[in-house]
Amino acid sequence: MPDRLGVARRLRASRGYWAANLLLDLARGRDRRHAALLRLRAPAGLFQPFGTTWPDRYAEIFADLSARLASVDAVRILSFGCSTGEEVAALRQHLPEADITGIDISPERIAICRATLPQAMAGRTRFEVGDSVCDEPDAHYDAVLAKAVFRHWRLNKPTVRNNTLLAFDRFEREVTEMARIVRPGGFLLLRHSNFRFCDTAVFAGFETLADAKCATPLFAPSGARLPDQTREAILFRKR
Ligand SMILES: C[S@@+](CC[C@H](N)C(=O)[O-])C[C@H]1O[C@@H](n2cnc3c(N)ncnc32)[C@H](O)[C@@H]1O
Repeated sequence: MPDRLGVARRLRASRGYWAANLLLDLARGRDRRHAALLRLRAPAGLFQPFGTTWPDRYAEIFADLSARLASVDAVRILSFGCSTGEEVAALRQHLPEADITGIDISPERIAICRATLPQAMAGRTRFEVGDSVCDEPDAHYDAVLAKAVFRHWRLNKPTVRNNTLLAFDRFEREVTEMARIVRPGGFLLLRHSNFRFCDTAVFAGFETLADAKCATPLFAPSGARLPDQTREAILFRKR
């Protein structure tokens, strides 16, 4: 009696299966295609390859953030992993006068951001292709956001007990850069990550302000899966 499950597993792990899937995604178009191009190019800095996003995905968080920034003149915000720009457009509704920068590793997604940006917003919105915030100036932003970026889709399976797909060091390196470019008193907003900000060394310079429902499995720096939790800390203020 052949082990059908074992055969299916071996098939899915084969290079042929990987290549066929990739070709299918390239042909499917839009986000499948953008993600397939990223998987094909495999840039060193890549975290989440999928660009899943939608307008008003973070309505509550953005209302909270904009209220906290209400008394700040000339607000500057950076969205890391902005995908096709819906998040930037939503932020803009809350903060019409802010300077907003969107960075994404996918040139195809940044092209969509630029093409769909209304003329009226062009002067105060910048979209850049990039894989890190490391070239941004120190203490420059009032708020820096990374949502649904520091994650790997294969870690969503409840059976994954150990994370061998996404290195905690890479997450820590990038959030340390993000922390560097936030001004003292400014905000860091992290959502839907596979790691906790409180496990990084740079967290010591922040206080936690808000949490939200946790829908993403969390992993320790060692790679071990953490017990499921109902809430995750998402909003932090730099001391
Ligand atoms: C799931 S989307 C998140 C979109 C939006 N932030 C949201 O939460 O709705 C993840 C995005 O992160 C981008 N990304 C992954 N690694 C990146 C990196 N190293 N630098 C910049 N963007 C990255 C992907 O290209 C993708 O567009």
